[in-house]
Amino acid sequence: MEGLKMNRISLILFIAFAAFIPTLKAQIDEVWERRAQESWNRTLESYEPDPVKIVTHLNTNVHRTLKELGALEPNSTRRGLRKKYTGPCMVTNPIDRCWRCQPNWADNRKRLADCGLGFGHNAKGGKSGRFYVVTDSSDNDMVNPKPGTLRHAVIQKEPLWIIFKQSMVIKLNQELIMNSDKTIDGRGAEVHIAYGAGITVQFVKNIIIHGIHIHDIHMGSGGLIRDSVDHYGFRSASDGDGISIFGSQDIWIDHVSMKTCHDGLIDIIQASTGITISNAHFTDHNEVMLFGASNSYSQDEKMQITVAFNHFGKRLVQRMPRCRYGYIHVVNNDYTHWNMYAIGGSQHPTIISQGNRYIAPPRNPYAKAVTKRDYAPEAEWKTWTWRSEGDLFLRGAYFEQSGDPNWSKKHSEVYDLIQASSALQVAEITKFAGALHCIVGRPC
Ligand SMILES: *[C@@H]1O[C@H](CO)[C@@H](O)[C@H](O)[C@H]1NC(C)=O
Ligand SMILES: *[C@@H]1O[C@H](CO)[C@@H](O)[C@H](O)[C@H]1NC(C)=O
Ligand SMILES: *[C@@H]1O[C@H](CO)[C@@H](O)[C@H](O)[C@H]1NC(C)=O
Repeated sequence: MEGLKMNRISLILFIAFAAFIPTLKAQIDEVWERRAQESWNRTLESYEPDPVKIVTHLNTNVHRTLKELGALEPNSTRRGLRKKYTGPCMVTNPIDRCWRCQPNWADNRKRLADCGLGFGHNAKGGKSGRFYVVTDSSDNDMVNPKPGTLRHAVIQKEPLWIIFKQSMVIKLNQELIMNSDKTIDGRGAEVHIAYGAGITVQFVKNIIIHGIHIHDIHMGSGGLIRDSVDHYGFRSASDGDGISIFGSQDIWIDHVSMKTCHDGLIDIIQASTGITISNAHFTDHNEVMLFGASNSYSQDEKMQITVAFNHFGKRLVQRMPRCRYGYIHVVNNDYTHWNMYAIGGSQHPTIISQGNRYIAPPRNPYAKAVTKRDYAPEAEWKTWTWRSEGDLFLRGAYFEQSGDPNWSKKHSEVYDLIQASSALQVAEITKFAGALHCIVGRPC
């Protein structure tokens, strides 16, 4: 069923469904209803009953990589050098080590798909598909997008590895609604998604977003938007998130630079799971990342997310991330700026914080706490598992732990593999966070 035809049955479905999915922006038809059901099934399938296995696997890889690379410069605070780094190509964490610094990276782009770690490690994007080269930065037709545009690429049903012919600024007229099995690979060009609407990943699976800049994102006004070659429909106004992940599985966001969006930089909601956010550079934003948007949506228990090797940089305020339900592994990130708090939540999320560097703001004595709990008295949140292992705290920063004090003893394999030095090396581990400037034919 296409378009606006809305008979009585779909109207009833719409009302019933609107209650079930409070923030779905689409007019519900049978296509969206089926996608929602399939999505929930995929979430149940993707859910890892033993999350410590994934946590341990990532930590083991960091441990091994750091050892093989030899000692990285500890306690580096010379962040200013990051942009100007002109030395030989250098890798500082296991994800980058898997593909970077090969001069022929452009002939071997799909190598990236095998480099993911953490809960999003199953994201292979368009690995099994052909390349699609975006040649046209325009975004003028929401229902019949022009071939060669990013919108035309992402609505295809087949797996696609999407690359860019040249540098471009893509000002999205409305939210970009992605179909499953896609990689957006910005390497080799400077690709900015900016000054328009953001990216929507809704009821789909298997997506990699790599090497692009996303900033100055506004709300979309809504209207008729195509979400697949064989379907389009009416959408209400979009929130103005940089990336909105809604009921989706196996998603990996790597080496993106993001700032200044109307709503969140990245929102992950409605039982999305199997997600890694890595090597990203975030700046200039208030509410950075929201994981779980509704207190009553307990299906978010299935949400499993890794936040690794990111740099939370200048002029950020709060929510890095802010979590409801779910299991969140926050590992080897550099938190150099926040204004209210770094990590928060409600509805008993599990938060495992390991080997991060937390630097409290210098002039605000009331913002030294990394953590913030909402909507729960202490007697209640004391039972939530929020653990800090091997984190480094500077300028008076502190992490208020809760839950089982013996968590690490029960998971000694995790604790033993996170060396205290990891946090000291975090400035190096995250040194190349953000979109990389890759030139074809040269090590990237
Ligand atoms: C979801 O899974 C259930 C149980 O395995 C199955 O009966 C149902 O048909 C599935 N729904 C969809 C839309 O795939
Ligand atoms: C790194 O910084 C930490 C915390 O300020 C300090 O305890 C440690 O001695 C420093 N290590 C080196 C090698 O400078
Ligand atoms: C933690 O372990 C210690 C000793 O191993 C034990 O005495 C204590 O009761 C344990 N606490 C909890 C909450 O399990």
